[in-house]
Amino acid sequence: MKLTTRRLILRDVELADAEPIKKYIDNINISRYLLVVPHPYTKKDALWWVNHCAEEQKKDPRTSYELGIVLKTQPREVIGGAGITHIDSGQGTAELGYWLAEDYWRQGIMSEAVRKLISFSFEDLKLRRLIIPAFSGNAASNGLAKKLGFTFEGKLRQAAVCKATGEIHDENMHSLLRNEWRKR
Ligand SMILES: CC(C)(COP(=O)(O)OP(=O)(O)OC[C@H]1O[C@@H](n2cnc3c(N)ncnc32)[C@H](O)[C@@H]1OP(=O)(O)O)[C@@H](O)C(=O)NCCC(=O)NCCS
Repeated sequence: MKLTTRRLILRDVELADAEPIKKYIDNINISRYLLVVPHPYTKKDALWWVNHCAEEQKKDPRTSYELGIVLKTQPREVIGGAGITHIDSGQGTAELGYWLAEDYWRQGIMSEAVRKLISFSFEDLKLRRLIIPAFSGNAASNGLAKKLGFTFEGKLRQAAVCKATGEIHDENMHSLLRNEWRKR
């Protein structure tokens, strides 16, 4: 599986990606906003993740696409991840999630990646509704969802425990519908 945008390639992860994934996600500024990523994050954790993705890649139809992000100018190194998970083709629904190496924040990279995942979800997978759940205090992710046209549906009180910090968070629920995306 491979998707391309102007600056990026989004592709299935491979064993060789475990090293850069470990290097970049072993950062509390990232894992404190993610649900199930431990801190510290070891090579063993990264290898588990890559193997988990390899199992998901074998499913037909797939219920998730958890893709590595590489820059076209630097194609060997994964600098982040963006995924469509919980795909329920019967319901027409799925969830989006993402993280990016801190060195690359605020350059529009994740907006570019997520836009591509949205069009793939609506046009290729024919889904109807996408959600982004984000911890209420996560300004970047909540801002990204808003920028991409997602509607804030409400706050799920104390809905999530962050694995890296052990903290309990309220979770903001954002959604985007296929007909809203088409209008944009
Ligand atoms: C969330 C994350 C992926 C954003 O990646 P990014 O490439 O920096 O995002 P973009 O540059 O595309 O920013 C898109 C919009 O998001 C918002 N945004 C991004 N970073 C922000 C920040 N630090 N504070 C407030 N708003 C922010 C802005 O509205 C921005 O648009 P603008 O630059 O035109 O103002 C990145 O901050 C990250 O990896 N965070 C840690 C992991 C995480 O939170 N994952 C999501 C879990 S729900």
